[in-house]
Order: sequence, then structure tokens, then C-alpha cells
Amino acid sequence: MSNETQSCTVKFASGQNIPLELHKVRVVQKLFLHPIERRLKAMRDAGFNTFQLSTTDVFLDMLTDSGTNAMSDNQISAMLRADDAYAGSQSFARMHAAVKEVFGTEYVLPVHQGRAAENIISQAFIKKGDVIPMNYHFTTTKAHMEINGGRLFEIYTDEALKIKSDCPFKGNIDTNKLRALIKEYSPARIPFIRLEASTNLIGGQPFSIENMREVRRIADEHGIMVVLDASLIGENAYFVKQREAEFKSTSIKDILLVMCGLADLIYFSSRKVSSTRGGAICTNRKDLYLKVRDLVVLFEGFVTYGGMSVREIEALAVGMYETTDETVISQSPAFIAHLATKLDQRGIPVILPPGALGCHIDCMGFLPHVPQAQYPAGALAAALFIVSGARGMERGTISSVRDDKGNDVLADVELLRLAFPRRVFTLSQTEYVLDRVTWLHQNRNLVGGLKFVDEPAVLRFFMGRLDAVSDWPEKLMAKFRADFGDSL
Ligand code: F0G
Repeated sequence: MSNETQSCTVKFASGQNIPLELHKVRVVQKLFLHPIERRLKAMRDAGFNTFQLSTTDVFLDMLTDSGTNAMSDNQISAMLRADDAYAGSQSFARMHAAVKEVFGTEYVLPVHQGRAAENIISQAFIKKGDVIPMNYHFTTTKAHMEINGGRLFEIYTDEALKIKSDCPFKGNIDTNKLRALIKEYSPARIPFIRLEASTNLIGGQPFSIENMREVRRIADEHGIMVVLDASLIGENAYFVKQREAEFKSTSIKDILLVMCGLADLIYFSSRKVSSTRGGAICTNRKDLYLKVRDLVVLFEGFVTYGGMSVREIEALAVGMYETTDETVISQSPAFIAHLATKLDQRGIPVILPPGALGCHIDCMGFLPHVPQAQYPAGALAAALFIVSGARGMERGTISSVRDDKGNDVLADVELLRLAFPRRVFTLSQTEYVLDRVTWLHQNRNLVGGLKFVDEPAVLRFFMGRLDAVSDWPEKLMAKFRADFGDSL
């Protein structure tokens, strides 16, 4: 079996399935694991917001996989032949050919990152009072759609928000709810149905092709467009191969073509899908292409660079082809599955089945004594950084938006996301995180809540500053010292 059709998990003689690094490390970046006293000071200085930390204070950067996946030797070398031209660049021709081959779309418009695509698609298709059904929102998606007057409806299935589930496709749309929504609001008020691959905010959970086909059928019945957020499509395709019987023997390349072929319009953040920077909007429909093209020129740049550097465009092209390589797209899910399974075995609540992007800890289960109004996911993110130097991301109430009256809207789930960018962390680093999360769980009663001290009106989780509601961080540090002595 060639590497192209191989997942990176191997069976050890013990019978255990272990994620194996099917690459060698040829360029490294030195990391620092500072003493806990410095980590606590850094956390205080950062306003208990992991977005506000400097990487000089971070040991394992598990904030996100966005723009942080390891690039391949082929990607780096492709960057050297970039063709700097305002218009008609050969670099774009190579990107166009790659996206066309991998996604099967004729028209490709580069943009500077995923949210730029969201801005343009929202401006082009959404008008005030419109309704957009989707499996689940993403933060920037929601912001752009709402600014343009749209209202989001998340029509996930009953399994989607269960922390522990056997459902292989928690990212599916509930098609009964979709039909009901179309009936209630009429197709005229629905510019498109949005499907997000490896649904980010519910724990990187995939949808099945069976579900996508059904969504497509319903959309066709009513003349509604299907828009696919393909930022994490590689991993979704990997899960389809693993979990959907029909596609067991189908290549990732063909699975990607099937998924993309079911959408009218596709957009993505290439910070994720191709392990680079940038993004794109692509389609086979000329009418849709023409509708967004002029906005790309207006907001992003000429249609052959769209705000991206040509070096990134070259790396993106190579990264697109690598998205069809199972050893690449299985890396992150394999490490996530390893950590999530071991945490679960230790009685620590994590999202199951394991998904894409990161291992997601259920913070309401982990910290039942911290009220949701005191942001348990933010508190756990801060606590884990203090005891380990690993920074994760809050994906809970801090990441949501206040209502019209200024009240906090409590999130459906309070998650701490520990991202596994592709091919970045080793198994011993993963074991270290497992150890420190386990210790924190044993000492969870020492962790308290947070409160805002400076709260921006838009996307507050990025720049907001918080404080601990008591001196719990100092008490946590004292217990760490008592248990670990001088160890870092
Ligand atoms: N769609 C999805 C599903 C995403 O996960 C992201 C970004 C975007 C759109 C926006 O793309 O950042 O390039 O503008 N997710 C990052 C994350 C930020 O950390 O999960 P962008």
C-alpha cells in the first residue's frame, strides 16, 4: 500500500493503535517551558485571555491550526519560484490548476483569508431579513452574515451537542428541520444553505456524504443554493472514508470531488485546508462567479492574487494536492483521537467521537462548580496554561455575543479546544498535555471563574481582558509547586 492511501495510525505489538509521525523533522523552532511563576504572570498580563499571550511565554501553542500547520519541503521550495505580477501571474495559474483538480471547480477567486470570503459571499447574496440554515455557525461567519442583515439557523441533529456520542457524523444537518425552515420562511428568503466541513465549534465534527446528498436534494427541490465552507474539508473527507461504509475503498481525492460536486459555491480558509495562508471562493457556476468577482477586486485585490502574496499562492497550490494525501490529513485526527481516548479513559469529559482540528474538553463537565456566567471554558484555558505552558482556545460563552439587551448569551457548549496543527507536535508532547490535564482534573476544585474587565463590542474573545474572580490562580500555583517540586 502506498503512502497516499495510508492513515498514520499503526498497530503496536501491544495491540494499541498509536499515531505515528510519517514525516521527519528537518526544520525546528526552539521552545521554552518557563517556570510556573512566569506562566502565571504571563497569564495575568494577558488578561486571562490566551489570544493575548506572546509565544515567547508559550510552550505548546495549541490555540489553533489556522496558519500554524507545518508546511512540507515541497511547499517551501515552491515558494521560491513565485511569479510576482499584479495581473496574470503564473503562480495563480498553478493555484487555479490545483484547486480545479482537487475541488473540480472551474472558477477560482483568491482572497486574503477565510473571513474575506465570508464578507464577500455575505455581501453578494444576503439581504436584510434573509435566513441562512446551516449545520452550525463559525464566529466570523456569523458576524459577517449578521452585519449584512441575515439571520442564522443552526439545524443540527439531536446528537450534535452531546459531549459523548457514538454518532459518527455529528456535523450533519437535520433535514426535517431544514424542510420545516424552508416551509416557514419560503425559499425566497433563503439565499443559501451553508454546510461547514468538520464543524469547528461543535468539536471538529464531520457531516456524511449521505447527509450532504439529502441537503442537495432538498435545495434542488426549492431552487436554493448550497454553500460549502471547505476550510476543514480534508479531515471531513478522511472521516467519510473511515466512517461511511460506501466510501471505505474510495480515494480521498474522489471523496473530495464528490463533496465539492454537491455544492454550488465553495469557500475556504487556506490557513487550514492547504497549511498556508490565504483563502478562496470557487464554483462551477459562471453566474455566481460573476456575482462575487467584482467584490474580490474591490476588497481583496486583482483576481490573480486577491490579497495573497504570490509565495503563499505557490504553497497553497502544492498544499491543495497534499490535501488528497491521507498521511497528511490523518495526522491531526490521529493525535486528537489518541489524546481524547486517553482522557476519556481517565474519566475526563471530552468530545467524542474525536473530531478534527483539536481535542475538545467539556468544561462544564470538568468544572461543574464554575457557573457558566463565570466562563468555565475561559477559566480552564487559563488554568491549563498556568500548569503546563500549553495554550488552548476558549470556545464557549466568551466566544459568543451579547443579546440586544446586553445580556450574556450562554453558549450551547463550553469547550476548551486543544488544537493539533498538522505535523507540529510529537507524541511525547501529547503525553505531556495528557499528564497536565489529568493533574488539573484531579485538582479541579482549585480552579475558579473569570469576569470581564475590558470587553470589546465585536468578537470580544480576541481582544477582551478578564480577571480571576478570586485568588484561585495563586492557590493553583501553590499546589503545583507542592506536587511537582522544582520541575517545570
Ligand atoms: N470557517 C471556518 C470553519 C473556520 O474554522 C475559520 C477559521 C474560518 C472560516 C475563517 O477563516 O481565519 O482564515 O479568516 N478558523 C480559525 C480557528 C480562526 O482558529 O478555528 P480565517
